[in-house]
Amino acid sequence: MEVKSLQGENFRNLLPFSLEFCEGTNVIYGNNAQGKTNLIEAIWLFTGAKSFRGAKDSEMVAFGTGNAKLKLDFVSGGVERQAALTINNRRYAELNTKKLKSASALIGNFCAVVFSPTDLAVVKDGPALRRRFLDLAICQLYPNYVSVLKDYTRALTQRNAVLKGMEGRLQESELLNVFENELVLNGEKIAEYRRNYCKTLTVNASVIYNELSSLREELEAVYMPSFCDDFAEKLYIARKTDVFSGITSVGPHRDDLDFKINGISARTFGSQGQQRSIAIALKLAEAKNLYDILGEEPVVIFDDVMSELDKSRQGFILNHIKGKQVFITCPDPSNIIGLENGKVFTVEGGKIK
Ligand SMILES: Nc1ncnc2c1ncn2[C@@H]1O[C@H](COP(=O)(O)OP(=O)(O)OP(=O)(O)O)[C@@H](O)[C@H]1O
Ligand SMILES: [Mg+2]
Repeated sequence: MEVKSLQGENFRNLLPFSLEFCEGTNVIYGNNAQGKTNLIEAIWLFTGAKSFRGAKDSEMVAFGTGNAKLKLDFVSGGVERQAALTINNRRYAELNTKKLKSASALIGNFCAVVFSPTDLAVVKDGPALRRRFLDLAICQLYPNYVSVLKDYTRALTQRNAVLKGMEGRLQESELLNVFENELVLNGEKIAEYRRNYCKTLTVNASVIYNELSSLREELEAVYMPSFCDDFAEKLYIARKTDVFSGITSVGPHRDDLDFKINGISARTFGSQGQQRSIAIALKLAEAKNLYDILGEEPVVIFDDVMSELDKSRQGFILNHIKGKQVFITCPDPSNIIGLENGKVFTVEGGKIK
């Protein structure tokens, strides 16, 4: 996948622009609040997904104007294509001048992965984000997983409701048995999927991490299941306490994932640069997954990835992501001194040069 050119008008603070990109690394450089993230957001929208910043469509239209317009020329499967987006209260898309039913119909035509600073939360924050990270990745690979998750979540809500109804006095209940059977059936599947995915993730992300750290550090994604053996028995034992809380205390909804560097938990002990490097390696592993599915490299977009990274890790980002087109924003000129090839764009007050 390669972006050839992008044109736009009335998109956020950007003045009308028409840009041609190179097939390697494209750096978008400028001070804070000049429009760098706006530019890569414009590219991202062609994946058919919503803004990675969580913005509403109408928020992307330049203040005081009606419609934002973007046009992207890209190559996919060796074929040149053109996509166009018109944005007002919603997004309208065209592919090769044909109107699409919705902007999300672009999904699968233009593919990208994006790293933004909020992705650090997967490494640093609580386990819910890591479960979501695992589930999203597994859903992409195995669409059947979606229904397993749904069935599990439904049974979980139902078990909790039965327990709450008992108001602290545990009783034998046929319904409780039924819902626990459902939980066990789907919970064991979820655990299996997650365990296998962590093995693949360790293989993919660790190769990337190893290179990023100049072969000094080993990354491992370790699945931390909420139960290790007999889930049914664990649930049965947990009834005694769960009847007081009305909450199910064991199961995949309590799983976690630990990232270890040279065997040590990175969430607890990792440095800022190490934690950031993990988040980057996870994104590049996601790109590898997409490549395995699509047979084509997605475009890689890095928003503000350079801070906290030392020169050698910055050098990896700038020069060693092979075979993929890369877009990087950065506010600090010293970050890009090591750029060997590629193209630099400067953004100032919405004007891109
Ligand atoms: N719909 C809009 N219309 C006009 N201007 C907007 C709109 N949305 C955002 N902006 C402006 O765009 C400016 C630049 O935003 P952007 O996030 O691209 O900055 P940036 O160059 O990435 O800065 P940083 O280095 O701080 O991340 C913001 O100051 C914001 O006020
Ligand atoms: Mg920005």
